[in-house]
Amino acid sequence: MHFPGSHILSVSQFERSDVDRIFDVADGMRPYAHRERMTKVLDGAILGNMFFEPSTRTRVSFGCAFNLLGGEVRETTDIKASSLTKGESLYDTGRVMSGYSDIIVMRHPQAGSVAEFSRASRVPVLNAGDGPNEHPSQALLDLYTIKKELMSRDQGIDGMHIAMIGDLKHGRTVHSLSQLVSLYNKIRFTLISPKELSMPEEIVEELRKRGHQVIETEDMEHGLEGNDIVYLTRIQEERFATKMEADIYRGRFRLNQAIYTRYCRPNTVIMHPLPRDSREEANELDNDLNQHPSLAIFRQTDNGVLVRMALFALTLDVVNQVEKTAREVNWYTERRF
Ligand code: CP
Repeated sequence: MHFPGSHILSVSQFERSDVDRIFDVADGMRPYAHRERMTKVLDGAILGNMFFEPSTRTRVSFGCAFNLLGGEVRETTDIKASSLTKGESLYDTGRVMSGYSDIIVMRHPQAGSVAEFSRASRVPVLNAGDGPNEHPSQALLDLYTIKKELMSRDQGIDGMHIAMIGDLKHGRTVHSLSQLVSLYNKIRFTLISPKELSMPEEIVEELRKRGHQVIETEDMEHGLEGNDIVYLTRIQEERFATKMEADIYRGRFRLNQAIYTRYCRPNTVIMHPLPRDSREEANELDNDLNQHPSLAIFRQTDNGVLVRMALFALTLDVVNQVEKTAREVNWYTERRF
């Protein structure tokens, strides 16, 4: 795809070569994200960071990514504090906000809302999650993490076995990630969920049409066997009509040290888009795995900054200028991990 000026709304926009390009640029962002160097390549640029649904890591990491490239961030963080509550359309909001910003990141609870907003926007719009539909930047950072984790095991993405576990019906991260992974060859997807929360049929069909093996099961122990990656998700309570309805499924599938040791291959990478639901009744990914070397969840969140910096640099067409304004940083930067 041609990145400069483009909206990033869905992983279906990408070919494998586009993913490679994003990952190459993300690799080059490492010294800046790690505060070894700084750049002012986006000096004077403004990001409209519009989150009409709760978020911690997507909102803050998009903001940090823009700041790390030298730009400024304006945030809208509550639908009640915006004129959408007065009946203003997404179209009008998009038209107005794109006059105040050079690029917009948006999250909204309705599927298709970010695309609708982008049709009115005069600047690039990046989808930070539209209801249960898609979360493309999360899928990119997840796949970037998968690539790095497998590389450290002398493996590539082609031919990998991945299990996705939890609320696969409402989980936009698994919708986007499975479609992005399907650009690679001969993947085995094991989809573990309650029947009522299974992966949308059209996505499963598409994976099969592209030649991948798809196993759907409610048997977690069996489904965990023989995978390179296990990717857990929480029950997406906010997509259910009532909390009581979500409670039916909460805690159904849990991974902890004992289950991991018993059923997973040694070195199986453990992933989760976060937030994990750490309440006792849910706890789909137990804290007793926090020190496990194969737990990649915090490497995922760190990688999010690199990937989001790459998306800004590509869509604003400054990849080749990042170095020109770069210098060493002055402050103490050593980090403890
Ligand atoms: N993974 C993710 O989207 O997290 P936040 O909801 O905290 O942004």
